[in-house]
Amino acid sequence: MRTITGVAEMKAASAAWRKQGRTIGFVPTMGALHEGHLSLVREARGRADVTVVSIFVNPAQFGPQEDLARYPRDLSRDAALLAQEGVDVLFHPDDAEIYPPGYRTYVEVHGLQNRLCGASRPGHFRGVATVVLKLFNIVRPDLAFFGWKDAQQLILLRRMARDLDLEVELIGLPIIREPDGLAMSSRNAYLSPEERRAATVLSRSLAEAEKAIRAGEKDAKKIAGLVRSAVAAEPLARLDYVEVVDESDLQPLPTVAGDVLVALAVFIGPTRLIDNLRIRV
Ligand code: PAJ
Repeated sequence: MRTITGVAEMKAASAAWRKQGRTIGFVPTMGALHEGHLSLVREARGRADVTVVSIFVNPAQFGPQEDLARYPRDLSRDAALLAQEGVDVLFHPDDAEIYPPGYRTYVEVHGLQNRLCGASRPGHFRGVATVVLKLFNIVRPDLAFFGWKDAQQLILLRRMARDLDLEVELIGLPIIREPDGLAMSSRNAYLSPEERRAATVLSRSLAEAEKAIRAGEKDAKKIAGLVRSAVAAEPLARLDYVEVVDESDLQPLPTVAGDVLVALAVFIGPTRLIDNLRIRV
């Protein structure tokens, strides 16, 4: 595996592959890799000729009070995992390579960026859209792989790709979970042993929502209410939001029908975790 830190070098590698007619699969990450990330890498390896993984902890998507400084970083471990998976290039730029002095341009996806997680994390999705567009322009992938773990992120980036006529297909892949249901996340490393036990409340509350929907419950308020009370029953947990929305545009659904997304964010102690349920009704 080759590690590239420079934008110019990454662009040159990508141009050379394209000239050879090879397709490029891309997995953007912030590192601290786990099986969720690796599931995306494996799919990329299977579907494209060349696989590029980026590791860049993007300052633009963290709020001033958020965990940018202490976000877990372990490049040598991550690089070893990616080499094992047969990744061709690890792209690992530093902050100044992506945001050189004088940087002024940001991407906004109106109507999608301020809802759900965007309401509690102002500026977050502006940072995500900006860095992902830059990474797409540097790597020029044919296919890019994202987890449904971050459903709003995927929906918003698909909108961006359509709106800006990008020539990349965004592929969404299922949430990878721990055996007890907790969605894998780099931020799970912040949890104390008691918090780790409490964190199963996210998937448990979504399982209750799913059971009710499958039993025929159509009232979105009642479904959200089930999630609310499940979270309230866990002393270490504090609900940030739960919403029942249409998967296509993230608009609230009064009645569940079509492609439904039940999304939630929960504070477990100081750590904010997210999870969601996608269900076709
Ligand atoms: P990060 O949180 O590192 O996630 C990178 C990719 O891994 C995202 O597409 C995310 O949805 C996916 N992922 C994380 N946990 C997963 C799980 N348990 N199962 C399946 N997929 C999972 O998301 C980001 O980084 C950043 O916002 C980024 C897109 C890289 C832009 O900075």
